[in-house]
Amino acid sequence: MTGACQRVVVVGQGYVGLPLAMRLVEVGHDVVGYDVDENRVKRLAAGESYVEDVADERLLAALGSGHFQPTSQSRDCAGFDVAIITVPTPLKDGNPDLGYVEESGRTLARFLRPGATVVLESTTYPGTTDELLRPILEDGSGLTAGADFHLGYSPERIDPGNTEWGLHNTPKVVSGIDGRSLEAVSAFYGTFVERTVPVAGTREAELTKLLENTFRHVNIALVNELAMFASDMGIDVWEAIDAASTKPFGYMRFTPGPGVGGHCLPIDPSYLSWRVRRALGHSFRFVELANDINEHMPDYVVHRLMIALNRQQRAVGGSQILLLGLAYKRNTGDAREAPAADVAARLLSLGAIVSAADPYVVEEHVDPRVQRVECTAAELAGADAVILLTDHDAFDYEAVVASASWVLDTRHRLSGSNVEHL
Ligand SMILES: NC(=O)c1ccc[n+]([C@@H]2O[C@H](COP(=O)([O-])OP(=O)(O)OC[C@H]3O[C@@H](n4cnc5c(N)ncnc54)[C@H](O)[C@@H]3O)[C@@H](O)[C@H]2O)c1
Repeated sequence: MTGACQRVVVVGQGYVGLPLAMRLVEVGHDVVGYDVDENRVKRLAAGESYVEDVADERLLAALGSGHFQPTSQSRDCAGFDVAIITVPTPLKDGNPDLGYVEESGRTLARFLRPGATVVLESTTYPGTTDELLRPILEDGSGLTAGADFHLGYSPERIDPGNTEWGLHNTPKVVSGIDGRSLEAVSAFYGTFVERTVPVAGTREAELTKLLENTFRHVNIALVNELAMFASDMGIDVWEAIDAASTKPFGYMRFTPGPGVGGHCLPIDPSYLSWRVRRALGHSFRFVELANDINEHMPDYVVHRLMIALNRQQRAVGGSQILLLGLAYKRNTGDAREAPAADVAARLLSLGAIVSAADPYVVEEHVDPRVQRVECTAAELAGADAVILLTDHDAFDYEAVVASASWVLDTRHRLSGSNVEHL
């Protein structure tokens, strides 16, 4: 994992781009962290990380090395040997929004030089690198991809909060628009990851990422639907999942939850179904079914709460409901597309008084009508019902069981006579 120092621009300094920039600095590259968000860039320059997986000390060390330059000035991208694009790829009215990728391409095209390499890492539908990014780079630079510069795609597999599998030891799929581009992309990634996995073309690499996320999305939907049926039939689905997970082959464990969130699962499979519909005219039925089930889960959580309150002759309206966890994922502060927001919105619309505890999620991501509280014995005891939505390790689970009158545990973290599981 060594190689000559190169000037690398990482476009987008978010959950994907910032850890990537840190790793590149640590193996000896000269890195420009370019982001259009001036506030983010100011925080980076001050040594303040906003991504949990990057500690302030690590950022400060990168800044101190003199090899990391966070910037919001596009001119600082000049002179790059390699540029990696890690900008958002959201949905707009249910369709892929490639606006950020297009903008990044236009910026890089102005500074593209013969011999340089551009790699897209943002998750997207097959064909984006070749059909969308390539002409933008060529038109803006007057150069030809393949002949003059290298172009490839490498999907990001970052799993925020995962301490075992990080960027350096997770195999990295790499691709190029032709053999020389693949060689250049592979050689560059080989300088900072333990193993690269070359694939035949950029479309295959783009599809790889969507396959991985669609696989997760569909399997989560499967256990979510099963959880709803099992509950109605009085069967403990968690017991069955634990038992099935003892099979050493042919089974992979997925668990039910209040819905899916984050930048990936609620969005990426729709990139694939959009592409299938546009290219072939069919629907991708697995994705549509999985969307349907997973999007229904926040409603189901509220339904389970209503049934529990009903047993006590109570209504949701006027009840004090405490939500534990607002992030979509445990031990992170990422509340993007988190099902907690949908659960809170439904409860509020029914007239509940909703409070929430989450040690990681910052205020700006939460509905202002939700009162932010600490997960204390007094708050737990004061609530008519508690819903555990994100099982952060930071919560004191013994206190939850000891103090709460009733808990709906959507993550199977608790046990007790006052606890019901999803
Ligand atoms: N977060 C994850 O766990 C994860 C995992 C795998 C793949 N991905 C994919 O990686 C991509 C990036 O995701 P993220 O979570 O890092 O997003 P993010 O929102 O955390 O960060 C993206 C950054 O890009 C910046 N940006 C937007 N347009 C720009 C431009 N034209 N020039 C420079 N900077 C620009 C934004 O200001 C933001 O800081 C997405 O396609 C996502 O699907 C994310």
